[in-house]
Amino acid sequence: MSIFFDKSQNIFHLSNNEISYIIGIEKEKYLTHRYFGCRLKGYHKINQLQTIDRGFSTNPIGEERTFSVNTLPLETSTQGSLDYRVSNYQFRNIEGNHITNFVYDRFEILEEKLILKGLPSLRGEKEQTLAIYLVDHVQLLEMVLYYTIYDDLPVITRSVEYKNNGEKAVYIENAGSMLLDFSRCDFDLMTLNGAHTNEATIHRQSLHPGIQKIGSTRGTSSPQHHPFLGLADKYTNEDQGDVYGFHFIYSGNFIAQAEVEQYGSTRIQIGINPENFEWKLIPGSNFQTPEVVLNFSDGGFNQLSQTFHKLYQTHLIPKQWQQEERPILLNSWEGNYFDFTERDLIRQARIASTLGIELFVLDDGWFGCREDDTTSLGDWNVNKEKLPNGIEHLADSIHQQNMKFGLWFEPEMISVKSHLFKMHPEWSLQVPGYPQTQGRQQLVLNLSLPEVQEYLIGILVKYLSSNKIDYIKWDMNRHLTEVGSFHLPNDQQKEVSHRYVLGLYRILIEVTEQFPKVLFENCSSGGGRFDPGMVAFMPQTWTSDNTDALCRSKIQFGYSYLYPPIMMGSHVSDSPNHQVGRITPLESRFLIAMSGNFGYELAIEELSPQELDVIRDQITFYKSHRSLLQFGQFFRLKEIDAAYSTAWLFKNETEALLVYFNGLAQPAQKIQYLKTKYLDEASDYKDMSTGEIYSGSELNHAGILIPRIKGDFRSFHTHWTVIE
Ligand code: DGJ
Repeated sequence: MSIFFDKSQNIFHLSNNEISYIIGIEKEKYLTHRYFGCRLKGYHKINQLQTIDRGFSTNPIGEERTFSVNTLPLETSTQGSLDYRVSNYQFRNIEGNHITNFVYDRFEILEEKLILKGLPSLRGEKEQTLAIYLVDHVQLLEMVLYYTIYDDLPVITRSVEYKNNGEKAVYIENAGSMLLDFSRCDFDLMTLNGAHTNEATIHRQSLHPGIQKIGSTRGTSSPQHHPFLGLADKYTNEDQGDVYGFHFIYSGNFIAQAEVEQYGSTRIQIGINPENFEWKLIPGSNFQTPEVVLNFSDGGFNQLSQTFHKLYQTHLIPKQWQQEERPILLNSWEGNYFDFTERDLIRQARIASTLGIELFVLDDGWFGCREDDTTSLGDWNVNKEKLPNGIEHLADSIHQQNMKFGLWFEPEMISVKSHLFKMHPEWSLQVPGYPQTQGRQQLVLNLSLPEVQEYLIGILVKYLSSNKIDYIKWDMNRHLTEVGSFHLPNDQQKEVSHRYVLGLYRILIEVTEQFPKVLFENCSSGGGRFDPGMVAFMPQTWTSDNTDALCRSKIQFGYSYLYPPIMMGSHVSDSPNHQVGRITPLESRFLIAMSGNFGYELAIEELSPQELDVIRDQITFYKSHRSLLQFGQFFRLKEIDAAYSTAWLFKNETEALLVYFNGLAQPAQKIQYLKTKYLDEASDYKDMSTGEIYSGSELNHAGILIPRIKGDFRSFHTHWTVIE
């Protein structure tokens, strides 16, 4: 891995064994994007910049009419003059003007990964970072573009720091994290979109002239759009072709856009959503943007996913969880909702323990007067009617059953019906004179307020200091409205959304660092805030409130483009399913849940003895393959088809497991051989249910016959061990 400045050509060449990223300096002023893709051994500007005298193209004074910044591939926009494409930043000065003129000033190569203060970012080991400084000499503003290249992965990270070295305050109206111009537009755009209970559907469509964008203005990254863009060649599929992935490490409002402009180039821009955003940059201060991950694959979507999985497992989640096995859990929610007593829970835990379950999670309903979802958020004291002996006693009883104990919180919220609201109505987000809006009958705490941050840190520290809580489920069940804050002056009200996210990160940094052994699970009504920003603190996320096996196969399939199975909470729930009413076999529910971060969430006392036996066997099976399922490689084998069938594969050095999930049973079932594609060609594999031995190459290329499947939503698995 290296970052090299070639003085003779005025280019920066960032490269490792797999990729090259090349930045040019034109006219000693403008930063051009010259190349991003497979590693280049050398670069001598074969792909010359095109300079044509174009209509409506502006030129810097003193330059030829053939030189226009508006047609150059850039690394950052020149907003307000010269460049009319979407911009990466926008300033407004005290006089009300938007114009800036940033030009290249200098560079620096840092011998480490830039770690962002107060924001989640990827960790590094021996990475280098290129810092390119641009200056607006009129207002003495500085913009630093940061690039880190990873040593062992085809990954670059980018972020920007905006600084005010002048004497007057300026307002940043748009603080983008990354801009990049590709000199072509024949790409497909990939996005992950959805809704509550229907997250992460993959959309692939041709780019077309104009701007195609996704984003969130909801205060969180949202289930509606994931902060991710992919750019794939037309012929790219799972195993071949080029694809770029851009993923934003941020949990609040974002924008991710692709602009196809008049001469056929594509501009990618990602950052905090400028809608409802502004930041007052006082003299001497700086603003650091969140980070963007740039991942390149020349081996199709599979390679892109393998890189994301490895990158996030090794450089994003808290270090102590990298190799740590995750417990099988029983979550109380769908089995009890708000209706439980201590005795009920202890009885359920006893059954769970005999089945081999390792963690008992008490979900919503344990605090204040919480009989339903209309009250008590903010009152984090135990409900003595349900739990007369308190949380610690319950935790002790669970520990006595040889299980860990986990507890649900929704720290960011406040119910109007709560003591906290009586004492501190001003702590909820609000704008003077306007009625507050409720979502799930609750308001949102103003996490930009330092006193609210302190309050929440205090509550969590108090509970965790007892050392009896091994796991926290951190939920967040509505989006932000009336985003205002009394502690900020009028001209800083548009800072609140970002300050909210910074407040959230501050709490998470303090609490997770103080209690590194506590396992945190991220949740926002499922995958409503499943983003790399949250993943940096919480190594697993409740993927969706939809626990139906069929729906989950699609949701987990979508998220698998970016996250490995160990990061996706997935539970066996009751049938008929509570969200969609579907009846599915227990085996299918198991195989889908087992393909994520595994647990159960059902009325355990209502299971028949036969069902309990099946579950006991499932758990035994899971435990004997835990290392494969949690730390092995995951491969998609089959795209979800019209009948909702799909297949995937887990693999490590010693074993492999294939899961085939069939949606609707088909008449006249077609002959189908499923190729495992990714097994080691040189190894032999023993089918553990038949004892038959097959070569990896025949499994990969000839494939296994899909058996006749009768009945809807059936599934099967095949397990092989590698023969020495
Ligand atoms: C939404 C979560 O996604 C559910 O799993 C559950 O924790 C409920 N909230 C509790 O209110």
